[in-house]
Amino acid sequence: MSRVAVLMGGTSAEREVSLRSGKAVSRALRELGHEVSDIDIGPEIVEQLAVLQGRIDVAFIVLHGRMGEDGTVQGVLELLGIPYTGSGIMASAMAINKHMSKQIFRANAIPVAEDVVVDTAEIARVGTEKVAEGVSLDLGFPCIVKPNCEGSTVGAGRARNREELESAIEEALEYDDLLIIERYIEGREMTVGIIGDEPVILPVLEVVASKGLYDYECKYTKGMTEYIVPALIPDELSRELQRLSLRAHFALDCEGFSRIDFMVDAEGNSFCLEANTIPGMTELSLIPKAAAAAGLSFEQVVGMVLETARLKISRNKRCY
Ligand SMILES: Nc1ncnc2c1ncn2[C@@H]1O[C@H](COP(=O)(O)OP(=O)(O)O)[C@@H](O)[C@H]1O
Ligand SMILES: [Mg+2]
Repeated sequence: MSRVAVLMGGTSAEREVSLRSGKAVSRALRELGHEVSDIDIGPEIVEQLAVLQGRIDVAFIVLHGRMGEDGTVQGVLELLGIPYTGSGIMASAMAINKHMSKQIFRANAIPVAEDVVVDTAEIARVGTEKVAEGVSLDLGFPCIVKPNCEGSTVGAGRARNREELESAIEEALEYDDLLIIERYIEGREMTVGIIGDEPVILPVLEVVASKGLYDYECKYTKGMTEYIVPALIPDELSRELQRLSLRAHFALDCEGFSRIDFMVDAEGNSFCLEANTIPGMTELSLIPKAAAAAGLSFEQVVGMVLETARLKISRNKRCY
């Protein structure tokens, strides 16, 4: 039995989702017999974490997005000497940054969609119109504009022409100073969950969003998305996606658990979109769904993630 603090909520755009995930994790931990405290993280994060020092054995982090999934909270916990679940500082910071994680993916022969990165400074210098013109020459249409460090498809938009591209850029800039604009992959969306230290790779799950883009509404409204697990795809493709997911997990140095998102085009080519280091953990989320297909209950998944908790800095004399 451990004293576990479940860190949920937070101040990011994904606060509500995190609260839902956090409550589900907390319920599962209680069922597993742990002494659990639910911590609704607000703007005073450092103070909230500091009072936990000496009072808990482990922090179970269920914060999504910035200041939670990005390595910052992990850094404070390292300094406080509180073991925590999931990835360490560097892996968290790399994974939340789509631009940086794609560099790692490319270096590890993990296929990704062609992209162009633009930042506010460039837009301020030459204007949205010129930037859109350049992007359209480099990538063509359709393309998708994403804030570099947001999750849950917040601020992402598909563009079929120059005009749509300009407004997608303007919209995404509300969320991030750096945008990643990718060639839009027409095809099917797949995701693969990885859990534990000697990782269990979950069956591939296909996401069929009713709107085409798996956006915030489709993600969190019941009935708007169909989930097929195991995905009805050839075994070979399934093994390929699992292999690429494991490689992405280790390339970024992820720990505890992760979920790797892909698009697969009509010819069966896979493109890795991103790694999520704190994936959704409501009972309806993708990892629990895929785990159920592999015969693992929600409580088992939570227990497996809890077991991987530790301070990462002291591990094997490694840096973060
Ligand atoms: N290059 C792409 N081609 C087609 N669809 C994409 C592409 N990139 C993202 N998407 C769609 O947008 C969603 C969100 O993108 P993703 O990169 O996973 O960011 P996040 O989940 O962090 O918002 C995906 O689930 C997918 O539906
Ligand atoms: Mg995603």
